[in-house]
Amino acid sequence: MSTHETDGPSDVDFFKMFGVVLGALTLFTASIMVLANMLDADEGMSNMEMERMSSRLEPVGQVRMNADDPDPSAAAPAAATEMVAKAPADLVEMACAACHTAGVAGAPKTGDKAAWEARLGERGMDGLVASVINGRGGMPARGGSALSDDEIAEAVKWLVEN
Ligand code: HEC
Repeated sequence: MSTHETDGPSDVDFFKMFGVVLGALTLFTASIMVLANMLDADEGMSNMEMERMSSRLEPVGQVRMNADDPDPSAAAPAAATEMVAKAPADLVEMACAACHTAGVAGAPKTGDKAAWEARLGERGMDGLVASVINGRGGMPARGGSALSDDEIAEAVKWLVEN
């Protein structure tokens, strides 16, 4: 013990110093907490302010860096109006299968080769397509669907071939 007091700072000095540093840190921490609380207190107002500010800061337009990038101003409407081409099998499933799978009201059944061959022999492909577009017997015009002439032709071809 006695040797410590003679050479260099004593334990007491160390703890005094340590106490001062600890006190300073505590004070620092406390002041930061107080500051944070003050910022928190008027958060409601500043949120509204932030919203208004960010709406003012929104870009007026966007720069397309690459010609291959989608045009942001055109992308949305184009995607909405562009009809996705459907496979003939899907067209039939969507608009024709209701009657032609079971042969409702004397409709030639899907897969009944003989029945389709006979009709194809009588009227030809164009004649069959015309029958569907205009309606025939128990089949309303276009089978009651909104398919285009091309889609009808694809569906008829699929029915005759399958
Ligand atoms: C509401 C039931 C119904 C739907 C839906 C329907 N058909 Fe028909 N289809 C019939 C009936 C019934 C006949 C037989 C008509 C007749 O010859 O009297 C027929 C006949 C046909 C024929 C033969 C026409 C001819 O001239 O002999 C084709 C081809 C045909 N349908 C294709 C289609 C296609 C393609 C669709 C879908 C776009 C479709 N049908 C949807 C009921 C339907």
